[in-house]
Amino acid sequence: MAEVTLNNVSKVYPGGVRAVNDVNLEVEDGSLLVLVGPSGCGKSTTLRMVAGLEEITDGDIYIGGRLVNDVLPKDRDIAMVFQNYALYPHMTVYKNMAFGLKLRKYARDEIERRVQDAAELLELTPLLERRPRELSGGQAQRVAVGRAIVRHPQVFLFDEPLSNLDAKLRVQMRVEIARLHEQLGATMIYVTHDQVEAMTLGTRVAVMKDGYLQQVATPMELYDHPVNMFVAGFIGSPPMNFIRGELERSGPDVRFLGPDFSLMLPDRLASAVEERAGRRVAFGIRPEDIHDRAFAPETDPDNTKTIRAEVVEPLGAETLVYLRTPSQDEDVVARFDSRSNPHVGQDIEVVFDMTRAHLFDLESEESLTYETETAPTV
Ligand SMILES: Nc1ncnc2c1ncn2[C@@H]1O[C@H](COP(=O)(O)OP(=O)(O)OP(=O)(O)O)[C@@H](O)[C@H]1O
Ligand SMILES: [Mg+2]
Repeated sequence: MAEVTLNNVSKVYPGGVRAVNDVNLEVEDGSLLVLVGPSGCGKSTTLRMVAGLEEITDGDIYIGGRLVNDVLPKDRDIAMVFQNYALYPHMTVYKNMAFGLKLRKYARDEIERRVQDAAELLELTPLLERRPRELSGGQAQRVAVGRAIVRHPQVFLFDEPLSNLDAKLRVQMRVEIARLHEQLGATMIYVTHDQVEAMTLGTRVAVMKDGYLQQVATPMELYDHPVNMFVAGFIGSPPMNFIRGELERSGPDVRFLGPDFSLMLPDRLASAVEERAGRRVAFGIRPEDIHDRAFAPETDPDNTKTIRAEVVEPLGAETLVYLRTPSQDEDVVARFDSRSNPHVGQDIEVVFDMTRAHLFDLESEESLTYETETAPTV
């Protein structure tokens, strides 16, 4: 197995589209890195450059310490599984999996052994004599993964391999890919636009936007310590709330002045933004950090506000409440304890847990509080 390293990698397509900009990325030997971002942000392009299917405009890519910029795809010792994996319709599952090895002139008994091993791992053994049209979507997907596994590559590359499956099957296959990663101990890069998939699958997650890498961290670090508004808003569902306003200093205290209410910043945040009094900022808070006062873990009169519930969505384990303040055109979403049972139109007292709050510079959209959150760097 091998680590994968991208040093200042860029891709400009003929015609001038800058698909990938100066990406630096280290995927450790045996780890699973998820590359996530919205459609068109450059995920597939990045993966295809690692695979050797796309020429690199600038920068270097190393696999297992070897510079592969000019190495042909077939000599890179990688296997790729695409969204639109086409199985050969006239071949059995066995032959589909064996085909690549046969092309590479592996001995018959070696092929047999590898296909049987992969089939067992993927629970395809009873299906080896079937043809693709006799398989369910999930089974066909497993065959596509099997074709990659039999190659015993140093690195697996997955490009949205589950997006053709229905939601339930996707969750199931996600678990299987995580298990496969455990069992094979292989280095894997997995591309998806689904942040839930990224969070649940990745040991580390790289968030990309407009061809630029935004942040690379463990799922929880991304969630708790986003470096900018894009990452903060992309990871998490419902997403982080942003309230635009400014900072005001009075004596030792720093307050955030929103359009309808102000909040008192805890010392940690206040010191981080000290010199920014009067500056436009976005206050960021996740839905679960806004509590119904009746069930709040702590009281905090300074940061308790009365806001009207516009929409109430009881989800069983929790209740989502869409709060509307008079001058905000966006709702603030709160994730309440299911014991709290507000009705639509009710004015509710809510407590903002300021220990969990974020502040962002509205111009650069960078976090002003990231440093103070003592996020471990990775
Ligand atoms: N062959 C090509 N020629 C020119 N531009 C391209 C080519 N392939 C991709 N692009 C452009 O490069 C950018 C990145 O594309 P890419 O396919 O890497 O995005 P992606 O993140 O994989 O998106 P998706 O989630 O939709 O698959 C897009 O603007 C896309 O239109
Ligand atoms: Mg893509």
